[in-house]
Amino acid sequence: MSLGTSFGRSVGASARPVLDLRGVDKSFGPVQVLHGVDLTAYPGEVTALVGDNGAGKTTLVKGIGGVHTFDSGEYLFEGRPVRPRTPRDAAGLGIEVVHQDLALCENLDIVENMFLGRERSNGIALDEAAMEEAARRTLTGLSVRSVGSVRRRVSELSGGQRQTVAIARAVLWDSRVVVLDEPAAALGVAQTQQVLELVRRLADKGLAVVLISHNMNDVFAVSDRIVALYLGRTAAQVRTADVTHRQVVELITSGRTGDLGLPA
Ligand SMILES: Nc1ncnc2c1ncn2[C@@H]1O[C@H](COP(=O)(O)OP(=O)(O)OP(=O)(O)O)[C@@H](O)[C@H]1O
Ligand SMILES: [Mg+2]
Repeated sequence: MSLGTSFGRSVGASARPVLDLRGVDKSFGPVQVLHGVDLTAYPGEVTALVGDNGAGKTTLVKGIGGVHTFDSGEYLFEGRPVRPRTPRDAAGLGIEVVHQDLALCENLDIVENMFLGRERSNGIALDEAAMEEAARRTLTGLSVRSVGSVRRRVSELSGGQRQTVAIARAVLWDSRVVVLDEPAAALGVAQTQQVLELVRRLADKGLAVVLISHNMNDVFAVSDRIVALYLGRTAAQVRTADVTHRQVVELITSGRTGDLGLPA
């Protein structure tokens, strides 16, 4: 079997992980939340991160995104050890996290949100025209038409449109990795579909996408690989095509299924 077949359907044999976490630990005071977690994500692929409530998914992606630092273990980005200490450090590497508690500013418009903290200036004043054009180009490039004017305030947008803006913001910054923490949790059917299509498009552009979801239909519809966390441990990393819904549900609820998963 070639490397290509074992590493997912959409990448060639030469692909190496963009993101490679090996044995990372994280505690909050006396409580250890992550225990030697492994997670590998490849360019051009959607990696679904699944696990029950409290399994440690958000903690893991906050570590990836520089909101937390891991206590120990290896964090490799494009093969090099890194240690982002802030979201800005992570963004500098090309890692963007769209958090579960979406950090958009209600009172600002789409352009202002997409450039928040990284505004473009022409030397004297903010270059509104350039930012507006870049925001519009990014949304169009992602085939997003549903938000209307890029000057609409975020407070006027629906949940799905907000997700779209948050994802577009990640893309605008030329990211290599985009992590989405439950983007479809509060969305209706049509909006979920739209966000999932966007997720697939990001991967097709060559990004590594890590998608947290509790919805097995979404996971199977869009992911190439699945990483299952169980009580802060990696129960399994598998290709989506190699497992069934039932196996993934078992990994989530008991950490193992058949020969796969944590030791009994
Ligand atoms: N800042 C913190 N201080 C103390 N404990 C925390 C902190 N953040 C998370 N935890 C604990 O870590 C565990 C994992 O939480 P986390 O938010 O990572 O879970 P999750 O897998 O994202 O769950 P969900 O599916 O509900 O979003 C939980 O028991 C939580 O209470
Ligand atoms: Mg969470």
